[in-house]
Amino acid sequence: MADTMTAPATMAIQVTVNGSNRGGNVEPRTLLVHYLRDHLNLTGTHVGCDTSQCGACVVHLDGESVKSCTVLAVQANGSEITTIEGLAKDGDYHPVQQGFWEMHGLQCGYCTPGMIMASVSLLQRNPNPTEDEIRHGLEGNLCRCTGYQNIVKAVQYAAGQIGRDAGAADAPLPHDAHRPIHHDGTTPHDPASVDDWEDELAGESDES
Ligand code: FES
Ligand code: FES
Repeated sequence: MADTMTAPATMAIQVTVNGSNRGGNVEPRTLLVHYLRDHLNLTGTHVGCDTSQCGACVVHLDGESVKSCTVLAVQANGSEITTIEGLAKDGDYHPVQQGFWEMHGLQCGYCTPGMIMASVSLLQRNPNPTEDEIRHGLEGNLCRCTGYQNIVKAVQYAAGQIGRDAGAADAPLPHDAHRPIHHDGTTPHDPASVDDWEDELAGESDES
């Protein structure tokens, strides 16, 4: 009698994830998002639908944003992958991450990693998008909470920041850019780096 309990065959893959060589054996059916989350413990990439609807799973694959629930891990073999965990450099947030903080572009945060990765790709293709271009560029990413307005502002803020970093001293911020205000009238602490944010989370904000 045939052995129906035989483990599924696996395939060896080798990828570069956030600059590190990673590899292992995966079942041919393993989706890239599950490889990242379950094999590499990179749980910043979220699964919202598993059916290519929501964009929570967006990562960069060889520089292109992809919904990682639509890619098999074996298809990524030999590729370079960037996830939300790899976006900050030398402890400094990417301007898009900073923009989402400054403009309060999130509420529950579930869509946020995919939104940010898709926004980074959008600004690489179009460094100075109009509001319509931002909304069109992020059509594949769904958010249940924010109403999208502050997400658009976050991308506009990031575009201005990237422009200034590139030397355009007059690169504009959105004309109505303003930081969110707490109920007590104070503005939130402005973390410039990952360490800074971790200090705040630990109750060590220099505003305290
Ligand atoms: S989990 Fe991939 S698009 Fe929703
Ligand atoms: S912030 Fe909740 S889904 Fe977008």
